[in-house]
Amino acid sequence: MFLRLASLFPILALLPISEARPASYAVWAADSGIARGQGNGLANGLPTVSYEHGEFQWGLRLLYELTGNKTYFNYIQAGVDNIVFPNGTIHGDYNFTAFSQDPVRTGPTFIYLYQETGQAKYKTAADTFRSQLNGQPRTAQGQFWHKLMYFNQGWLDGIYMGEVFYTAYTNAFDAHNTTAWADITTQFKLMFDNTIQLPGASNNTGLMYHGYDFSHTAVWASPDRGHSPEVWDRALGWYAMALVDVLEMAPPNSGALKSTLLRILNVLAPRIRDAADPASGVWWLVITQPGRALNYFESSGAAMYIYALLKGVRLRYIEDRDGSIVKAMKKAYNYAVENWVVDNGDGTMSWKNTVQVGSLSTTGDFDYYVSQVVDLNDLKGLAAFLLASLEFEKLDS
Ligand SMILES: *[C@@H]1O[C@H](CO)[C@@H](O)[C@H](O)[C@H]1NC(C)=O
Ligand SMILES: *[C@@H]1O[C@H](CO)[C@@H](O)[C@H](O)[C@H]1NC(C)=O
Ligand SMILES: *[C@@H]1O[C@H](CO)[C@@H](O)[C@H](O)[C@H]1NC(C)=O
Ligand SMILES: *[C@@H]1O[C@H](CO)[C@@H](O)[C@H](O)[C@H]1NC(C)=O
Ligand SMILES: *[C@@H]1O[C@H](CO)[C@@H](O)[C@H](O)[C@H]1NC(C)=O
Repeated sequence: MFLRLASLFPILALLPISEARPASYAVWAADSGIARGQGNGLANGLPTVSYEHGEFQWGLRLLYELTGNKTYFNYIQAGVDNIVFPNGTIHGDYNFTAFSQDPVRTGPTFIYLYQETGQAKYKTAADTFRSQLNGQPRTAQGQFWHKLMYFNQGWLDGIYMGEVFYTAYTNAFDAHNTTAWADITTQFKLMFDNTIQLPGASNNTGLMYHGYDFSHTAVWASPDRGHSPEVWDRALGWYAMALVDVLEMAPPNSGALKSTLLRILNVLAPRIRDAADPASGVWWLVITQPGRALNYFESSGAAMYIYALLKGVRLRYIEDRDGSIVKAMKKAYNYAVENWVVDNGDGTMSWKNTVQVGSLSTTGDFDYYVSQVVDLNDLKGLAAFLLASLEFEKLDS
């Protein structure tokens, strides 16, 4: 049924979106990204080892598994072959000794390709990331630093970049390593404990600040706990996606990993629901400062929450007894397709309103976040929309 509908999609896509929705926004988003050459391991023609490519490939893999359409698999493989030499060396802009967690997010695709093709180069490349994690600098509590240059700093983003790979690798090659399972659990838990807004915090949403500095010395670090000043929508989106993706992969013998992540997810999910703007149903870029001048509804974070929460409910990780979480995610999704999807009229769609970056490299304050460039077809947002659409299209109605 899905394939038959999908084959109608080019005709439907010619109609204005208000008159007819395409049979699958997931297919449309994926095909549009592919048509633009996005997420193919290259940037300006040069190899790049980029987490957003890894995120897009994760969505293409799920779409491949759903449709059986080899186009998606081949695109993933060609993309990885742009950054992994035949001898398994990862090239392009990857720098092992920078100890950045960001490039590691391409690793799950390496493992997947190894499992599907048996080609040793993909395993060799995955081993390189695994050994990076073995040397990754840590805080005294054990949290991975986001990068070597960010002393003692844990960022929510890093959980998606590092732990999805760490889990996929351990699951595939090292499933009896109890130290590794405990370490993954620790990464999620320390990040949560050190960044969660506590009762009494100003503009309290009960959500997680963007990051923390264990040494409390960064300019943005709060004197009491070392956390950054604001809840940034995409940082929390990365963390939320990591929760459900890791839960899905974690085997029964992974120690306290599942119970820890389930507890965190069930704290966050209703709070994410409640933090949405009541009228639109979507989230402010800076969630802690709703309605403030220059703040706006940002599209990548929203798509990430929709994916994470719908997937969490579908796989019964999240208790949604009254259906209010699914209802809220449907409302957000409808806002997204009506406001952020553009029909280009040539068979492709574009995705609006994704902020290009959000970093704790400077002040981490409201003025910083709202001053960042908003992009059309930013892959971090487009890939998240692909993921959100895959989940939305699995709903019964
Ligand atoms: C697979 O997907 C591509 C891209 O959407 C499409 O052009 C092609 O027709 C699809 N193939 C099949 C067998 O459905
Ligand atoms: C892997 O192949 C690349 C490209 O040929 C080469 O530059 C690199 O030195 C090789 N690495 C090893 C470890 O042999
Ligand atoms: C790799 O990262 C290290 C540590 O940040 C840095 O000293 C080195 O210059 C980087 N190498 C390249 C080629 O950029
Ligand atoms: C198990 O995981 C730990 C933590 O990542 C690591 O230090 C160790 O090398 C791993 N053991 C094996 C046998 O790979
Ligand atoms: C709380 O939110 C309001 C409304 O967005 C904003 O004007 C104010 O600056 C925020 N306060 C703090 C301490 O962030």
